[in-house]
Amino acid sequence: MEKILSIENLNKKYGRIHAVNNLNLEINRGNVFGILGPNGSGKTTTLGIILSVINADSGAFSWFGNPNSKEDRKKIGSILEQPIFYPYLSAVKNLRIICDIKGVNYSEIERVLHIVDLFERRDSKYRTFSYGMKQRLAIAAALLGKPEVLIFDEPTNGLDPKGIAEIRELIINIARQGMTIILASHLLDEVQKTCSHVAVLKNGNKLFSGKVSDVLSISDAVELSSNNLELLSLVIKEFEGTTDVNIEKDLIVARLKAGTTIYDLNYFLIGKGIVLTHLAERKKSLENQFLELLTENE
Ligand SMILES: Nc1ncnc2c1ncn2[C@@H]1O[C@H](COP(=O)(O)OP(=O)(O)O)[C@@H](O)[C@H]1O
Ligand SMILES: [Mg+2]
Repeated sequence: MEKILSIENLNKKYGRIHAVNNLNLEINRGNVFGILGPNGSGKTTTLGIILSVINADSGAFSWFGNPNSKEDRKKIGSILEQPIFYPYLSAVKNLRIICDIKGVNYSEIERVLHIVDLFERRDSKYRTFSYGMKQRLAIAAALLGKPEVLIFDEPTNGLDPKGIAEIRELIINIARQGMTIILASHLLDEVQKTCSHVAVLKNGNKLFSGKVSDVLSISDAVELSSNNLELLSLVIKEFEGTTDVNIEKDLIVARLKAGTTIYDLNYFLIGKGIVLTHLAERKKSLENQFLELLTENE
């Protein structure tokens, strides 16, 4: 796997606030990497440092396995906040100005407008755009120059549900083209819906990181009951798809291993001649799981 970004022992303090606390991260090519944490956890500061907008107190980072170079900076596009577009100019004219700044050929404009689905509106003035369209134009601007990495900070803040869905879908589509994406968000479901990998930050500390499918999928419990609870508890232990079988009053509570479904469990029990009087999934809301993760490490 090709390393796109390595961060080593990065620190940044603002007075007594340790905004980034000894952060280590590795991001590989093709990752859609979510930096997830509540407000004030150090996400924007981290992005500022890796974009050389903020100076770290100590530690190091390197892009594409090299020390920081101007050439490498051109391979990174970012949408940190709304870029300044001219309200009375059209989408195309605004993008031409960005092409001039970046030294990119105007011929790219059509391509990026298609990607963000603004080609039909290319001649409309920026001031007539909805907030979601403005955000998409910002993404189009970042795509000029064909960067290899795209960085987003809270990409759906301030958008209505339709705008949120559009931006998330757009990010997923851009990722499918093989681009590496780094996305900071305080929204658990945003990271779950768009990212392949995640690092969870709290108060500048990394709590954990890994694949979204590993880190953010905590197995749900299943409740079961039958007329013969003792027999059920014995038989269920023979089933290979469960862990942690516990008796709680008149219920048996078990956890299913990844890849095992409630159907598998029920099918197994029927095969053993057990008729259930109760079978239910005990789902924790993801939001609760996230809150638990964040408080566990307090
Ligand atoms: N320029 C600054 N001056 C003082 N404190 C700052 C500054 N920027 C950020 N902070 C503080 O650093 C911490 C991390 O902030 P930030 O990186 O913006 O978090 P996030 O993006 O996760 O919300 C917060 O406590 C914030 O108040
Ligand atoms: Mg922020």
